[in-house]
Amino acid sequence: MIKKYILTGFCLIVATFQLFAQPPKQIVVDGKTFLDLNNDGKLQPYEDTRLPNNRRISDLMTRLTLDEKINLVLGTGMKGFEGLIKDMVVGGTEYLVPGAAGTTYHLDKYGIPAIVMTDGPAGVRISPTRKNTDQTFYATGFPVGTLLACTWDTKLIEQVGRAIGNEVLEYGSDIQLAPAINIMRNPLCGRNYEYYSEDPLLTGKIAAAMINGIQENGSGTSVKHFAANNSEKNRMDLNVNVSQRALREIYLRGFEIAVKESNPATIMSSYNKINGIYTSADYDLLTTILRDEWGYKGVVITDWFGGYSNGLEALMGKGKEHNTSLQLKAGNDLLMPGIPSQKEDILNDLKSGALTEADLDICVKRILDMILSSNKIRNYQFSNKPDLKKHAELTRQAATEGMVLLENKENALPLAPGTKNLAVFGSLSYNLIAGGTGSGDVNKAYIVSLKEGLKNAGYSTDQKLEEFYTPFVNAEVAKVKEALKANPLMLVPLMPQPKLKESMIKESASKNDVAIITIGRSSGELDDRKIEADFKLTQEELNLIDNASSIFHAQGKKVIVVLNNGGAIEVTSWKDKVDAILMAWLPGQEAGNSVADILSGKENPSGKLSMTFPIKYEDVSSADNFQGLPADKPTEVMYKEGVYVGYRYFNTFNVKPAYEFGYGLSYTTFEYSDMRISDKVFDNELYVSFNVKNTGKVSGKEIVQLYLSSPTNVIDKPVKELKAFAKTRLLKPGEEQTITLRLSLRDLASFNQGKSAWVADKGSYQIEVAASALDTRQKESFMLPETKIVEKVNNVLNNKASFVDLKP
Ligand code: BGC
Repeated sequence: MIKKYILTGFCLIVATFQLFAQPPKQIVVDGKTFLDLNNDGKLQPYEDTRLPNNRRISDLMTRLTLDEKINLVLGTGMKGFEGLIKDMVVGGTEYLVPGAAGTTYHLDKYGIPAIVMTDGPAGVRISPTRKNTDQTFYATGFPVGTLLACTWDTKLIEQVGRAIGNEVLEYGSDIQLAPAINIMRNPLCGRNYEYYSEDPLLTGKIAAAMINGIQENGSGTSVKHFAANNSEKNRMDLNVNVSQRALREIYLRGFEIAVKESNPATIMSSYNKINGIYTSADYDLLTTILRDEWGYKGVVITDWFGGYSNGLEALMGKGKEHNTSLQLKAGNDLLMPGIPSQKEDILNDLKSGALTEADLDICVKRILDMILSSNKIRNYQFSNKPDLKKHAELTRQAATEGMVLLENKENALPLAPGTKNLAVFGSLSYNLIAGGTGSGDVNKAYIVSLKEGLKNAGYSTDQKLEEFYTPFVNAEVAKVKEALKANPLMLVPLMPQPKLKESMIKESASKNDVAIITIGRSSGELDDRKIEADFKLTQEELNLIDNASSIFHAQGKKVIVVLNNGGAIEVTSWKDKVDAILMAWLPGQEAGNSVADILSGKENPSGKLSMTFPIKYEDVSSADNFQGLPADKPTEVMYKEGVYVGYRYFNTFNVKPAYEFGYGLSYTTFEYSDMRISDKVFDNELYVSFNVKNTGKVSGKEIVQLYLSSPTNVIDKPVKELKAFAKTRLLKPGEEQTITLRLSLRDLASFNQGKSAWVADKGSYQIEVAASALDTRQKESFMLPETKIVEKVNNVLNNKASFVDLKP
């Protein structure tokens, strides 16, 4: 008790000190104003912003003590773990931005501030309220990563990134722990909703756009989780066995593109091991590949408490397997959040020679570079008042751009002019899910329900149904809120459907023009989705679809299903029963308005799937090897499918999907014509042009995809792979746009494991210009006369398991 009071008193003193702390004084030298970071009235080299960071850092390095250096590589963490881990260095800087995930250590003596890190990716995750003030600190709940990727629109993503960056800056954060770009290896991964795609090119391009957007104002990002964190179960102890080729072509490639095209301030290593080594302690991953091959100059940080066998249990002293020094030597500069035992480890290892001060210095210098490049060190006076209204408008529009129209029989959508009365079914229609759970969840001020969105769009919704659903939904929401108080990391259970009497559906069918049913799923960190009652619909959901469809159809009225979830779901058993299906994903705080914009036709859907929807779960190439073994606490997972992930598998092995990668309908139609290629023989690059014409009756945008089939006489390859894409501008009926896409030599190359190189094999290549992975519109071919070694790389990250990758 006494301890608690002392602690509270200490926190108050710290908080009060911070509240009244003077901003650093200014100092004028040669007519220029600088911040006197250490308040000594002199301009020290490290304070001199005219000097490049490396000069300023060299000066600082001569001043820092060993203890200060060690503190710099140990971050502080979010509140909540103090009770779990004895003497943890957490919470010490919580007052800076309450609800942030952590900060770096501050060295006041040199005016080195703590750099604040906030979670994402769907917005800035901070506490919405703070002690002693009525002001609220809600951040915008943007659509989840999956929806954003389904826009295939890098310009729009950059704009969303800019808005997020603005909230990072104005809420006093420095690094947004986003984007999350692991490959969707399997539809059941609990965090797929945060991730972009099953395809590394789409992933990398969308990630680069997001990072460039966020970082434009000087904020930083942390692209995560590097790498192969493709399932959640026992994620801190899971060893991913995967071939070099699958790593290079699938699991690392998105990160490679992001690093090369956007230069994220930080990269977050993942929890898992790859081929026996924790990613955060893997020199070959973090230095040989990331820095030496890709040229990355920024900071690598661990995922929270990452790199310990047995995860949190180890931190609490059970079965501890330390690898602090290995992490630092591997190039994992910052340990988040640091704990006292890591400090001991470092000191011991410095003594024994297992770690040298030079090793430590490398990490410290990178961290200093990040701090000296931050907005915080510029003493930016953040407002705590980002333009939430403007961002709400952006999120509403961005959400519509990524929604995917899966079915639309006889133009059931948009709702016909004159449609007035809507029967809104399904619990989630009254409580749409805006985002997933865990660190990817944003504290937003509101979520527009579908019922509200439809009302805002001028429709009347069935009052009786509303009265039936509302108390049920409210009671369910209250239960979940209560349970979350006890266990904040809990996964939100599926919202049940109350049993609707047939007579009620009949009455509703007689009074309304159209039925709309929402079916949805939530998922999040720490566990994966299940096949039953998650990937598959529940019996009560199927009953609802059955009953509503037969009753409404009997009266000649249409039934629309809105899917409100973060990933693929089973559709084949029920899709023919309804007239239209809109995949609305987890669309952010404006959810209901965004869905209504599409249903009403105010916006024409232009999203396309960034992943395959299988007919049944067993059709997925990793179905038998998803989480690994032993099943209850998997420690080993075999990526036996090799590079045949997603459409690469479905297309090559002729497995019919429910909806293929790149698929999505529109309220209009598009014609592709006049495909031209710049040369029939490939030299250094090749340009592909074609025209896209809106041949329908309303304006719309089309996502166009370029797939390449490469010669397979040397190694097996997927029948085709996405190599470029674009989204047209909004084309009016009859309007045409010429699209030009570029192919580089690297685009022709596959990873030849025997040669440790990206190799473009000689022979004939076929280019397909397509509307989806199965809807080719135009074809051309060209020759590569000689085999070319495009890039020789290091023979690292060897798979030690004894399986051979799947081959066609
Ligand atoms: C998640 C990260 C997140 C971190 C900090 C971890 O559990 O895996 O994505 O950034 O926590 O909240």
